[in-house]
Amino acid sequence: METQQGDGGSVDLDGARLEALDPQPLLTRDYETRPALVYERLRQRHGPVAPVDLLGVPAWLVLGYRESLQVLQDDDAWPKGLENWRARSEGRVPADWPLGPSLEVNHILIQGGPGYRPLRTAWDAALKPFQDPRHPQAKRLKAAVTAYADELITLVGQGGPTGHADLSAQFSRPLPLMVASHLLGFPGSQGDDALMDMWRVLDAGPDAEAALERLLATLAELAALKLQKPGDDFPSYLLAAHPDLSLDHLARELFMLLGMTSDHVGILISNTVVEVISGEGSVRASLSAGMVRESMNRVVMRKPPLVNFVPRFAARDTPLGAYTIRAGDPVWVSPGAAHADPLFADHVAAGTTISTRAHLSWGAGPRQCPARELASTVAAVGVGRLFERFDHLDLALPADQLPWRSSPFMRGLRSLPVRYELAAVPEGRPADGPAPEVAEEVLPDSSARQRSSLWRYLTGLIRGGR
Ligand code: HEM
Repeated sequence: METQQGDGGSVDLDGARLEALDPQPLLTRDYETRPALVYERLRQRHGPVAPVDLLGVPAWLVLGYRESLQVLQDDDAWPKGLENWRARSEGRVPADWPLGPSLEVNHILIQGGPGYRPLRTAWDAALKPFQDPRHPQAKRLKAAVTAYADELITLVGQGGPTGHADLSAQFSRPLPLMVASHLLGFPGSQGDDALMDMWRVLDAGPDAEAALERLLATLAELAALKLQKPGDDFPSYLLAAHPDLSLDHLARELFMLLGMTSDHVGILISNTVVEVISGEGSVRASLSAGMVRESMNRVVMRKPPLVNFVPRFAARDTPLGAYTIRAGDPVWVSPGAAHADPLFADHVAAGTTISTRAHLSWGAGPRQCPARELASTVAAVGVGRLFERFDHLDLALPADQLPWRSSPFMRGLRSLPVRYELAAVPEGRPADGPAPEVAEEVLPDSSARQRSSLWRYLTGLIRGGR
């Protein structure tokens, strides 16, 4: 029997199958509250790659930094695409597996095979106008984010110049949703109602299934509209770059954009706010020196919004860590765990404001996030507006008692309770932030906004009071 000395000790390499290794459930209560501990235990026991049970389905979790890079950088050896999953082809993935619905919606994040490359090229082309700082679309996007952030802050301020707020529900979550509506080119504030369904889907409550159906139908309608009457928006750019895309497929890509934007960017905003409020003085100082992005880079490294990536599959039997991964086995790269790998963690100097850029929070290799600049801009502008418009923001709970929500893919704050004090508005400047001509250009008609269900929901959250 062949053995190898892994980080976790001597482990058999004699062809033990993933299923036969008795993988232990990953998503336990400990995982919810102390994920670092769970990763550490797995690392101790198995080394850099561990067999785990994901809600009844066995998978490999990649905990090692070097092994994560090895997988992410070699798309031929570790392709995505559920058609590569042996257990699924053999009918061994239960039809009611809770992760099935999110993985079976085939869009760019999940897809492998020959259709992937042209799709990625089209995504890159469609995002470019929003990410190239010289392009008018990128300037318009920035103006829009500023205007939306100001709208939301003004709404919070309706509770009084000082008070309490949940900055997650009242700012970090709705802001990217409004941005997504802008990117998608929804006419007026029409998107607001439909997009609230995205929250219902992400929160996976009892109304999630109906919400997903409504949302996909709305996005299909939007896709048809953009095909007939292209505009200056993401769906029209994607169609122009990939004219063969079916309407159904386009709707799925829009769904993907919506999910990524509204959930992950919201998490990044909340985490950055906590870092700035509760961090050392140097973080506040760097913020005032215009280094929001550097703070964000540290935050995204220490608390990656995507804690585990959707699965890839071994193209052939391949040694990884202390095991041999069999062809067709699912492999989940975990940046949450890889960033705690001593190989990586020991190189990140604690307590400095300049952080390493070698982290995996945006992915690595050919499939890394194509929207990094866009997501960073939205978050940086949002966070910047908060700290300009509020003189004081303090956490209403100690940082280590803030409530988290996790799924197998993401980890973010469930709420962000704060005490606030609005800054006084300089004389002669409207309290609502953006110059009227900018607001008119990027904001939907305000009476329509106020009638939308998103606005009614947000108005219901206004608390104020000391
Ligand atoms: C803070 C926000 C975000 C984070 C942390 C993030 C992170 C990531 C990561 C880690 C990947 C790679 C996943 C893997 O290798 O399996 C990825 C892929 C991707 N992201 Fe993002 N993302 C964010 C926001 C966005 C936004 C706003 C969009 C769209 C506008 C977006 C579009 C995509 C797409 C299309 C892919 C798939 C790329 C491919 O497979 O070729 N992301 N993202």
